[in-house]
Amino acid sequence: MRNLTITLALFSLLTSSIIFSEEGKKLAQKNGCFACHSMKLRVVGPSFNEVSNKYDHANNTKKILMKKIKNGSRGNWGNVPMIAHPKISDKDLDTMVTWILHLDYQAN
Ligand code: HEC
Repeated sequence: MRNLTITLALFSLLTSSIIFSEEGKKLAQKNGCFACHSMKLRVVGPSFNEVSNKYDHANNTKKILMKKIKNGSRGNWGNVPMIAHPKISDKDLDTMVTWILHLDYQAN
């Protein structure tokens, strides 16, 4: 029984991260995030995989990262600042950050 519960939990985790993957990646492309970020290599900013490895999946972490994208950020990965993105909705920020934070579950 316990194994079944764990299997089901893992399965829903996997399927939900695949859904985030589609939506989050599309939004990141649409919003020009890939001008400075790539999946695996450091470009102007850290790779999204690096970001995913650095942070946990807590709700609070997500909120902090959403705020950093919205208001801009500097000093966490080096001296190059990330510009502010004031026009992106909280819903879209939420989807993108959820996608980024769950990249460490995917073999990509
Ligand atoms: C002009 C270049 C640029 C663009 C465009 C950009 N970023 Fe960044 N991003 C950076 C840099 C540089 C950093 C590292 C900032 C730092 O050291 O605090 C960063 C950091 C981050 C971080 C990690 C923040 C932290 O404190 O660890 C996330 C998450 C992120 N970016 C997501 C995004 C998303 C999503 C978009 C698209 C909406 C985006 N970025 C667009 C340059 C950019």
